[in-house]
Amino acid sequence: MWHFRIWPEQASTSAREVDWLCIGLLIVTGFYFFVVFLPLVYFSIKYRRGSKASRANAIEGSNLIEITWTAIPTFMSIGLFAWGAAVYFHLERPPADALQIEVVAKQWMWKIQHAEGKREINELHVPLGQNVRLTMTSQDVIHSFFVPAFRTKQDVVPGKYVTEWFKPTRVGEYHLFCAEYCGTKHSGMVGRVVVMEPDDYQKWLTTGDVGNPIAASGRQLFTQLGCSGCHEGNGTIRAPRLEGIFGKPVPLQDGEVVTADERYIRDSILMPQAQIAAGYENLMPNFSGRISEEQLLQIIEYIKSLANTTPPPLPPAREPEAKAHPPMPSLPQQQQLPNAAPQP
Ligand code: CUA
Repeated sequence: MWHFRIWPEQASTSAREVDWLCIGLLIVTGFYFFVVFLPLVYFSIKYRRGSKASRANAIEGSNLIEITWTAIPTFMSIGLFAWGAAVYFHLERPPADALQIEVVAKQWMWKIQHAEGKREINELHVPLGQNVRLTMTSQDVIHSFFVPAFRTKQDVVPGKYVTEWFKPTRVGEYHLFCAEYCGTKHSGMVGRVVVMEPDDYQKWLTTGDVGNPIAASGRQLFTQLGCSGCHEGNGTIRAPRLEGIFGKPVPLQDGEVVTADERYIRDSILMPQAQIAAGYENLMPNFSGRISEEQLLQIIEYIKSLANTTPPPLPPAREPEAKAHPPMPSLPQQQQLPNAAPQP
């Protein structure tokens, strides 16, 4: 049944915050409408040229009035700014305990992987009352992940990772839109977010086509692509160990120190020559064009899973050997992993 509503339903903790900010803005702009705009129209008509209105008692300037109508709007604007900034920072900082879900956008669909292995397209299942953090990227153009009922919207940009988080507060199904014009079928890039009771969500995670956990798929790729040959074991090529590296500072050859976050790992895989870890040589081959966005996220998830481990002790030093990378195993770009998403 059709019914009109001014606000979309509030289905996340941020929805109320954003709505109150919006209402606050409306009140402030309404205030200016009544004290500035309406009198302006009234006086323009009343004192139009040739009108008979009395022009006696005209004020020739008043510091008190000038200061008052400068100071009050200034404080109101600063208050709105502070309020908006507080809401913004809250929306931009995902809580540490958030459930991690990976999203890859492409023309014209949303591809979603859950850490436990479930994958879905244009649908996102989440548990009620739990913080959910989306790590998102695009494999072509800019898209925007918009869930009006959660009051969250985030541009999804190719070549980088962006995050969006929310805490659903109501069981139900909500619209998911792409809110950035991304080509001819932009308007069809829609889906739904399904908020479920935590028990139902757990059940959902383990029924139907359940794939490998993301980190396990990443581990598999790590071996298939030959990464493990240099980054672990006693290979002839010396490459940094990846145990315990995630989230830690990494000194680079040029003296700079970077944090081993998702972006750094991504860049190291796609443009390894750009940032060489101190003490190592520029030997790693470039994987750009040989690995999909989903696969990158899987490898990153695997490296993240090593965050709390320590590398085994180094093998005894050996004679330096030829410094060339061994032949690379090839992996087709769109390799059909066991439960890979169907292509349209
Ligand atoms: Cu994707 Cu618009």
